[in-house]
Amino acid sequence: MADLEIRLLRREDDRGAFACGEPALDRFFQHYAGQNQFKLHLAVTWVAVRDMDILGYATVAGGSLERRTVPDAKLRKRLPDYPLPALRLARLGVDRRAQGLGIGKALIRHVLRLALAQRDHVGCVGVVTDAKPDAVAFYDGLGFSRLEGVREGVLHGDPTPMFLDIAAISAAVDAAG
Ligand SMILES: CC(C)(COP(=O)(O)OP(=O)(O)OC[C@H]1O[C@@H](n2cnc3c(N)ncnc32)[C@H](O)[C@@H]1OP(=O)(O)O)[C@@H](O)C(=O)NCCC(=O)NCCS
Repeated sequence: MADLEIRLLRREDDRGAFACGEPALDRFFQHYAGQNQFKLHLAVTWVAVRDMDILGYATVAGGSLERRTVPDAKLRKRLPDYPLPALRLARLGVDRRAQGLGIGKALIRHVLRLALAQRDHVGCVGVVTDAKPDAVAFYDGLGFSRLEGVREGVLHGDPTPMFLDIAAISAAVDAAG
């Protein structure tokens, strides 16, 4: 999408009108993303901006996963049995006005690049996320798989834990150029 900038959230950004259709994600962005980033240092939010208008956001944090949950059996065998460093995609939302225009995909591409930077500087086996029911197909389309043996919710609205390993991330970023 032309002229789309992805940059860090700033204190002065106006977040009040953001609406992606999931009230919990809107509330998080409006009320908690700032303090989590600037005061508590729990997570960092990246925003997709066009003409000074915030059209989407992705919040990332350090994460970890256990070997037994890694979906690829071959990879699972090669990994040690202690908590593995990962990048957690904690929240993702695109404003309703701008859904279906590639902004979610652009934010994910950015998150995948962050995972490669984490790999190079800190260590990272991949990206983990808890997909909302309506977003599982979106993550499927981007190559994510369901984590194995992680208790999936049984109630309507429960999230599905999903994972994209660092080799697939590297290949996807290389292919995108
Ligand atoms: C899910 C969401 C982030 C997708 O962002 P978006 O900007 O609308 O998606 P994009 O335009 O980048 O779509 C990228 C691809 O995913 C597909 N896609 C988008 N939303 C999808 C969905 N809900 N299910 C299946 N596929 C989806 C698109 O068709 C597109 O496919 P293509 O590359 O083959 O053309 C956005 O719709 C949203 O904010 N939804 C409400 C909140 C939410 O569910 N967040 C995720 C929480 S886990």
